Amino acid sequence: MNLKLHVWRQPGPQAPGRLVTYEATGVSAEMSFLEMLDVVNENLVTKGEEPIAFDHDCREGICGTCGFVINGVAHGGQKNSTLCQLHMRHFQDGDELTLEPWRAKAFPVLRDLVVDRSAFDRIIQAGGFVSINTGTAPDGNAIPVPKTDAEIAMDAASCIGCGACVAQCPNGAAQLFTSAKISQLALLPQGQPERWMRVENMVAQLEKEAFGSCTNYGECEAVCPKGISIDFIAMLNADRLRAAFRVDREPRGGGGAG
Ligand code: SF4
Ligand code: FES
Repeated sequence: MNLKLHVWRQPGPQAPGRLVTYEATGVSAEMSFLEMLDVVNENLVTKGEEPIAFDHDCREGICGTCGFVINGVAHGGQKNSTLCQLHMRHFQDGDELTLEPWRAKAFPVLRDLVVDRSAFDRIIQAGGFVSINTGTAPDGNAIPVPKTDAEIAMDAASCIGCGACVAQCPNGAAQLFTSAKISQLALLPQGQPERWMRVENMVAQLEKEAFGSCTNYGECEAVCPKGISIDFIAMLNADRLRAAFRVDREPRGGGGAG
């Protein structure tokens, strides 16, 4: 099949960008979308032109590195799928596709389809971990965890940090990502000692970054490749309230167990 691609080209963070049109010819239905772009790039390099920059790593839907917008939809619109798992059989011969980077103030464009998602790293650094020295691995049955809690925690833990939720949100909000990272620990016994300090510190960092506010559009859930539910945002908000009203709460950023 043959496709027409309108691709956002931007040589650097401060440089102006524009859409440039390319023809992708002889595309096999079995190719992944990124393999199709690899072929387009090989042709560009052969002609002495700059290849299109895009992020990718595992190409198996597990690392969260890939991601851009195709015709206005983050990751291309295939339900519960990352961009690297999107295949050309979902497109028709003659399709015209517009490829743009994540559009969010908190994710500045670095080059072409590549954005800076380090704001997510800073949210994790603010508390998205268990800081207790656990020593050697404990026996798997030493701390009983109710099965439903374990399953919901695993659902939250499936967030791969891709940023599609932010890109699709009309507000550019990062509540779905942050709530998944908070909930995966808040639901387990190991996450309890720092639970209240964690939610306060991570939300404080979220608010320092250039993300917008959540107003429950639900676009994040619709494009999330891991099907993360906006129920986790409700859990985040509930934990924020409970943290704020705890009489024995640690001061924000304070040490020790909360
Ligand atoms: S919540 Fe979903 S869309 Fe957002 S970063 Fe995690 S995996 Fe990606
Ligand atoms: S490249 Fe790893 S999830 Fe797409």
